[in-house]
Amino acid sequence: MADGSSETKSSNQMWGGRFASGPDAIMEEINASIGFDKKLYAQDIRGSIAHATMLAHQGIISAEDKDKIVHGLDTILSEIDSGAFEFSRRLEDIHMNIEARLAALIGPAAGRLHTARSRNDQVALDFRLWVKEELQKTEKALTGLIAAFLDRAEEHAETVMPGFTHLQTAQPVTFGHHCMAYVEMFGRDRARVRHAIEHMDESPIGAAALAGTGFPIDRHMTAKALGFREPTRNSIDTVSDRDFALEFLSIAAIAATHLSRLAEEIVIWSTPQFGFIRLSDAFSTGSSIMPQKKNPDAAELVRAKTGRVNGSLVALLTVMKGLPLAYSKDMQEDKEQVFDAAESLELAIAAMTGMIRDVTIRADRMKAAAGSGYSTATDLADWLVREAGLPFRDAHHVTGRVVALAEQKGCDLADLPLGELQAINSAITDKVYGVLTVEASVASRTSFGGTAPSEVRKQIAWWRARN
Ligand code: ARG
Repeated sequence: MADGSSETKSSNQMWGGRFASGPDAIMEEINASIGFDKKLYAQDIRGSIAHATMLAHQGIISAEDKDKIVHGLDTILSEIDSGAFEFSRRLEDIHMNIEARLAALIGPAAGRLHTARSRNDQVALDFRLWVKEELQKTEKALTGLIAAFLDRAEEHAETVMPGFTHLQTAQPVTFGHHCMAYVEMFGRDRARVRHAIEHMDESPIGAAALAGTGFPIDRHMTAKALGFREPTRNSIDTVSDRDFALEFLSIAAIAATHLSRLAEEIVIWSTPQFGFIRLSDAFSTGSSIMPQKKNPDAAELVRAKTGRVNGSLVALLTVMKGLPLAYSKDMQEDKEQVFDAAESLELAIAAMTGMIRDVTIRADRMKAAAGSGYSTATDLADWLVREAGLPFRDAHHVTGRVVALAEQKGCDLADLPLGELQAINSAITDKVYGVLTVEASVASRTSFGGTAPSEVRKQIAWWRARN
């Protein structure tokens, strides 16, 4: 369309209705990124100030021009902050919008700012700075969520609940222990965040278009000024690398997956059938038709946000797949995915932190459920191994018969008369009743990382020292 060889602008019947001004408008619409990359304005200005300062320090531009540039950029920053700045789609992206305004403010000196750099390293810098800051926010948010869980775990170190496998009652556990499982999950997410920050802590500016530059720039100086550990080492890789964005999205996807599992448990636990928790009014909604209902909407939305975050990861992986080195315009499609995932994740973590802090734990309901479903059958088998010397496989068989008997009589294991237990295995004594309660069951599981309140308290202390 640029050569103008085929049709005149307004004659095209296919485009006419949608794009009043013809192909140029389509090009502008597909090409422009200002609609979303204006989010990077602060990073862009910070990067330009560091670059201009370095150029002057190296004698590439004059100190006078540098001062004008820095002053102009400061003015633009406050214009954008205050909402006074007028963004133009014709100027494509945030970089050109700012540079054009700089020219209007300070005149020809503005033209010297782009010496020894390209939009390719400029956008790599801006976006990297943004993602790094977002990761730092994520780290903080996860720390808050972990703190909420640690408090609830401490409060409920002894509260017994059913532990599940296949969502079938398996063995009694403590609610504190269950909380600490989430601390482990979000702790791993946070470790991934920290690792990613370290990984991406290299400055792209100065890679220029792809080949570096002949100007005597000092990339170590700009790296330091912008808070990076060091400059990137390969200019071709630098302008074509979006691993930092992919890492952010991978981390976000795993964290969102963890959040969705927690959300699902909240949904299940808050049903009248389970009744393990009562959600605060702040994080639930009523039904417009059924007055009795209290819906876990916040948890459901957290569960659903995972879809968006996972979608963003797959979208960017697909954008990057098969791209030849170095920069291609495809890469402009990186930002919206990251921005959307970041917003979803931030919101999901905040909502979950609020829910965990607010939720009422119904310990009586948890305990009643913990005792049902013959959840202490393993304790009986272990007792037979320990006290009666049976091999575990035989103890498993004996216990199976005891469970069948209780099932047939419609009672709990602890309600079976000793005589009937002894008829199944004569080695059983009345001491066995000491292990059939849920409290005894959890108290006995003192193996490292186990569910006993004493162990859970150790886990809490370990995490408190690291949170
Ligand atoms: N808006 C572009 C992006 O987001 C900036 C880089 C443009 N570079 C170029 N060679 N056209 O990727």
